[in-house]
Amino acid sequence: MADIRGAYDRWSETYDTQQNPTRDLDALVLQRLVPALDGLLTVVEAGAGTGKNTAWLAPRCARLIGLDFSPGMLQVARHRVRSPHVQFLLHDIQQPWPLADASADIVLFNLILEHIESLEPVFCHAARVMRPGARLLISEFHPGRVLEGKGARIDQGEEPGEFVGTFLHLLEEYVVAGSAAGLELESTAEWTVALLGGSTPDADELQPLILSLCFAKRDDVPAA
Ligand SMILES: C[S@@+](CC[C@H](N)C(=O)[O-])C[C@H]1O[C@@H](n2cnc3c(N)ncnc32)[C@H](O)[C@@H]1O
Repeated sequence: MADIRGAYDRWSETYDTQQNPTRDLDALVLQRLVPALDGLLTVVEAGAGTGKNTAWLAPRCARLIGLDFSPGMLQVARHRVRSPHVQFLLHDIQQPWPLADASADIVLFNLILEHIESLEPVFCHAARVMRPGARLLISEFHPGRVLEGKGARIDQGEEPGEFVGTFLHLLEEYVVAGSAAGLELESTAEWTVALLGGSTPDADELQPLILSLCFAKRDDVPAA
């Protein structure tokens, strides 16, 4: 079994600086998916990593809890985002989350679910902490790319870099896991590197790199 936590500990020093179009595209996708937070909402980031997205979210929300199981990644995040309303917790998101029922307005999965074998339990943990009307926003490495044999890879100069460990999740799996957790699918989208701008992408680069989904917790569904 892949040592995903150990791989991220090793990657933490270079994660932010190595060339990584998926990471950069995800940052832009997040900014398009997240609704106006108006400094009022509570956000939970599952797999907050080095705090790349936390740094953008923190000034916009009332409270933010970042969960991650890699001490190395969280060390970078804690250095990067120092605000009393932001809390980073060392936690494996496959275990029940250390958060109160119905306490979050937005839950985010960004580039983490490719490392999770079974989506349903994790979606149930997320749904439990969501308030009625809350949103679950997902931006993940596209299954089409996983089918090509690609996935998160630590590039530390050597060729090829170390694979972290990737599970394939087709769109239908996300839909089924959301529905099992009592969440309603509102929208999906595919994103390509064209969003990053720069030189004209070739046909391969125009294959979607990220799949995003937005789920809502219905008002009439009690916490799981
Ligand atoms: C590719 S990074 C993405 C980080 C951040 N969301 C971003 O978009 O920059 C994936 C993160 O998920 C974390 N992760 C993977 N599996 C996890 C699990 N089971 N529980 C908690 N964190 C996990 C890793 O430690 C890593 O920080």
